Amino acid sequence: MKKKRNILIMLFTFFVISISVWSCQWHKIEPVKAVPWNLTDTVSFSADIQPIFDSKCISCHANQSPYLTADKSYESLVNGGYINTSEPEKSGIYTRLHNDQHPSQSGTFSQSELNLLLTWLKQGALNN
Ligand code: HEC
Repeated sequence: MKKKRNILIMLFTFFVISISVWSCQWHKIEPVKAVPWNLTDTVSFSADIQPIFDSKCISCHANQSPYLTADKSYESLVNGGYINTSEPEKSGIYTRLHNDQHPSQSGTFSQSELNLLLTWLKQGALNN
C-alpha cells in the first residue's frame, strides 16, 4: 500500500515539474530583433543623410540650389534657409520631399529616408 502511494507521489511530482517546465517555455520571451537603426540614436549627417543625397539628389543638385554634394550640402542647406530647427516639419528640405512636393522626385524618396531626415532635423540638424 505504501509503495503504491510513493509511486503516486512520484508521478504527481513528475507531473508538476513537467507542467512548470512546459509553462516556462510557453512564457519564454522572444529576444527583440536587432534593428539596423533606432530612433533614439543620433542621426549622423555625414553617415546617414549625405549618402541619400549622393544616391538620389546630386544628379541634379550638384549644380542647382540646394547644392547637395558632400563638400557643399550642409552649408547650402543652412545658408539657403532649408532648415528650420524650431519647427522641423516646416523645413524646406523636408516639406519639398514629402507629399510629392518635389515634382521630379515623387516616390523615389522612401518613407524611412524621410523619417531619418526629419529625425535629423528634430535633433537640431547637426553637422555631425
Ligand atoms: C531629376 C532632377 C532632380 C533630382 C534627382 C532632385 N531634384 Fe530637387 N529640384 C530639381 C529641380 C528642377 C528643382 C526646382 C524646381 C522645383 O521646384 O521643382 C528642385 C528643387 C528642389 C528643392 C527646392 C529648392 C528651392 O529653392 O525651392 C529642394 C529642397 C530639393 N529640390 C531637394 C532635393 C533633394 C533632397 C533631392 C534628393 C532626394 C532632390 N531634390 C532630387 C531637380 C531635381
